[in-house]
Amino acid sequence: MTSTTSPALSLRDVVVTYPDGQSRITALDGVSLDVRPGELTAVIGESGSGKSTLLSVAAGLIEPDSGSVEKYGTRGLIFQQANLLASLTAREQLLIIDHIAGTKPRQDRADELLRFVGLEGLGNRRMNQLSGGQRQRVNIARALMGQPSVLLADEPTSALDSQLSREIAQLLRGVTDDFGTATLFITHDRSLLDYADRVVEVKDGKLSAYADVAA
Ligand SMILES: Nc1ncnc2c1ncn2[C@@H]1O[C@H](COP(=O)(O)OP(=O)(O)O)[C@@H](O)[C@H]1O
Ligand SMILES: [Mg+2]
Repeated sequence: MTSTTSPALSLRDVVVTYPDGQSRITALDGVSLDVRPGELTAVIGESGSGKSTLLSVAAGLIEPDSGSVEKYGTRGLIFQQANLLASLTAREQLLIIDHIAGTKPRQDRADELLRFVGLEGLGNRRMNQLSGGQRQRVNIARALMGQPSVLLADEPTSALDSQLSREIAQLLRGVTDDFGTATLFITHDRSLLDYADRVVEVKDGKLSAYADVAA
């Protein structure tokens, strides 16, 4: 990662408000953030501070009231609860991306990604035959099917124990390095911050540098 690389994701002075009775609540209050290819940025902050709103606006799921969100290439999303269909196998969870797009199923790519996330040989397992950690690996592999340049993960480890959480954080590090994604990793687990190049903290909708854990 070099600071001269253009960001794959760029937020400028982003404000997001939600309706709150007669008035509005400000969830993001002038947030600016750049994430570059191959960079893993961790986002911490208390519950209700605006982390998920930051991810949603970066993902294009919600529009900012003001400010700009620019991204280059496609985005891959990873949520806390893997949105996986119980009746499908691990391989089918990945191939559904092609099915939805109406394109030819990329069997080889699906198998390659399953191998990358450590699920080689488990492609025919249904979701109830996989552990929580393994399901989150399927989730990550599926997010990579779209060849994203920006990867957005909202507390992907919060349902996992500390050992599995470390494995998933390590996997996100590997994905960021090997696929060159600009990765935003929301977590409230401070023990996972050492996998990040950079940590930012959201407090009352405002962003600040937390620490520079890069060597
Ligand atoms: N859809 C919504 N409608 C109204 N208020 C919301 C909505 N989503 C989030 N909020 C409020 O915005 C603030 C930030 O929420 P959120 O981004 O979910 O924080 P975090 O992910 O850090 O817990 C909180 O006060 C929350 O209650
Ligand atoms: Mg949240």
